[in-house]
Amino acid sequence: MKKVMLFLIFLIVIISIICLFKNKKKEISNSNNNYEIFSFYKKQNLERYEKYKAKTNLSYKDTIIQVNIGLDNSYYTNTKEITLFNSLMLVNKYNYVSKDFKIPNLKPVKEFAKDNMYLEKECMTSFVKMARDAKSNNLNLRAISTYRSYEYQENLYNNYVKVDGIRKADTYSARPGFSEHHTGLAIDIDNIKSNYLNFENTEEFNWLQENAYKYGFILRYPKDKENITGYIYEPWHYRYVGIKVASYIKKNNITFEEYYYEFLDN
Ligand code: DAL
Ligand code: ZN
Repeated sequence: MKKVMLFLIFLIVIISIICLFKNKKKEISNSNNNYEIFSFYKKQNLERYEKYKAKTNLSYKDTIIQVNIGLDNSYYTNTKEITLFNSLMLVNKYNYVSKDFKIPNLKPVKEFAKDNMYLEKECMTSFVKMARDAKSNNLNLRAISTYRSYEYQENLYNNYVKVDGIRKADTYSARPGFSEHHTGLAIDIDNIKSNYLNFENTEEFNWLQENAYKYGFILRYPKDKENITGYIYEPWHYRYVGIKVASYIKKNNITFEEYYYEFLDN
């Protein structure tokens, strides 16, 4: 009798374990489906998506994109070297270029620039066109910082760290290798008259808000997107991505990171 009882208990325990296991499997497979419908879902990141979603309560889409950006890990972890120039390349706190990274078509900016400055050719011609059109509206756009070498950024960043400490410097300055200015596709712009830190309060900024995308430029570090770009709002920093991509980013009010991991990462 005792033996029969023990056997029954054993059977119940085994059946319960099997049921639990089956339910868990079903749960996982249901949750897989929520992610799998997105073409940019990466199977190997599933565990990270689930952890991040539980923490942030974001939509499935935003969870996938933000994890693929790398945002579930601290900035400057799991970094990846980008070795080839591409006009839609992404350089940020997770993607860097080396000291000797080469831009195939680096050209001088002969107009609308503060000093001797260089940009990738297509970015340069689009910037000059934009600045000319602004000028015809009595507005002054001037490039005050364009292509930067690794050494230049190293110096800049180290000086900021001396003044403000690493934590604060990291909110507004890229570490050497991690600056978009290394790509020749980024420009800091002022209006000649006032300090660039005040650029948000100028007519030129308002004009760029309306028109930059028509020339292929986006505001790269927008307000309220610091948690995605990793940088504080920079009203003066523009990135060339071409008219098609710039139009999409503006219309959908997203960052370049989000665009990149939805459409370009493969
Ligand atoms: N200020 C931008 C983020 C840079 O240092 O590249
Ligand atoms: Zn900049």
